[in-house]
Amino acid sequence: MVGAAAGVVLAGGGTLAGFQVLEVDTDEAPKLPSHLKGVAPGAHAFFVALDLPESASGDSGKELRHVLKYVNAVRSSGTDLWIGLGASLFHQGGVPPQQLTAMPVFAGDVLDPSHAQGDLLLQCAGRDAEGVRAAVERLLSDLSAWRVRWRIEGFRDENRAEGGRGLARNPFHFTEGFGNPDDVRGLTDRALVRADQGEPEWAVGGSYQVVRIIQLATELWEKDSVPEQERIIGRHRDGRWLDGTPNGEQPNFAADPRGKVTPLDSHVRLAAPDRRNPPPMVRRGYSYDRGDGDTGLIFSCFQRDLAKGFVAVQKRLEGEAMAKYVLTIGGGYFFVPPPGSAWVDALFPS
Ligand code: HEM
Repeated sequence: MVGAAAGVVLAGGGTLAGFQVLEVDTDEAPKLPSHLKGVAPGAHAFFVALDLPESASGDSGKELRHVLKYVNAVRSSGTDLWIGLGASLFHQGGVPPQQLTAMPVFAGDVLDPSHAQGDLLLQCAGRDAEGVRAAVERLLSDLSAWRVRWRIEGFRDENRAEGGRGLARNPFHFTEGFGNPDDVRGLTDRALVRADQGEPEWAVGGSYQVVRIIQLATELWEKDSVPEQERIIGRHRDGRWLDGTPNGEQPNFAADPRGKVTPLDSHVRLAAPDRRNPPPMVRRGYSYDRGDGDTGLIFSCFQRDLAKGFVAVQKRLEGEAMAKYVLTIGGGYFFVPPPGSAWVDALFPS
């Protein structure tokens, strides 16, 4: 048994958005690592991609131990911090996770190298923007030898927990998060690498993280009526299905084979056509707004199998009705190592 009934201890900061999973008191349900913590993740986040210091001279292990030391020192009750390893970090040694490469260019992507990949991704999420910024600034000064490749700040409007899921409103005015699992077991099953996957032992309990910086053509989007927008997404703005099914239940796509109610090229229909086998990924996106109309999504997702998770869904989304409103300009593939530091010693023995 999992979830609140099985003893997931929730602590609130007075608002729903402040809830965080602190502890799980059954042997059955594993503890959630930082990147999956909390049904409603922090409403603010910072993503910073770094490249190894010039001085690293092949000793990635030493540099990573430094990073972990500072990350642990900066972690506080109001912020969650974690790192992701880029494929290029392994160029000088170490056995990488099997599926870790640089993020390829998918149909329609126009990747700007100054916004893509990086040896390491630092991510900080928390309740207030100031706390998150302060944590990141402190870390960057501690890690000043690393070179910042790109950085982007995100936020989640109307960040909240509902029915065991974290929800937020994206710049297209749609509520996101319903497709995620509503319990601890569901999250870990989809996101954490298992021992039987043939991955290197150090990687068990870690996750593949995909980040996509997606510009949204909000002006073009606003020209469409709300019903048109809802047919492009395949849900109402509040998450209800177009066939009237409540947001927490499964729609009946089989009764609508031609897509008269929920178009076949709608986002959700392509992303998750088989309602009994949802895509094995956990999505935790943020909005961004850099002024001058540069708004969009920092799409972020975690999975234990990159090919079955993100890649399969991304390929199915080619040609979706939403394609003309979105442009992916950056991001990358990373691997979030398991909690603790044993993995560094296994990967790069000192
Ligand atoms: C381009 C910007 C995107 C927007 C505006 C967007 C928006 C949405 C919305 C509103 C939903 C319905 C609510 C929910 O279940 O969360 C949704 C669902 C989903 N999206 Fe996206 N999304 C975007 C990109 C992506 C990408 C890049 C992927 C993966 C490659 C993806 C995968 C999914 C999946 C798997 C679902 C759940 C479908 C389900 O289980 O019903 N989305 N998205």
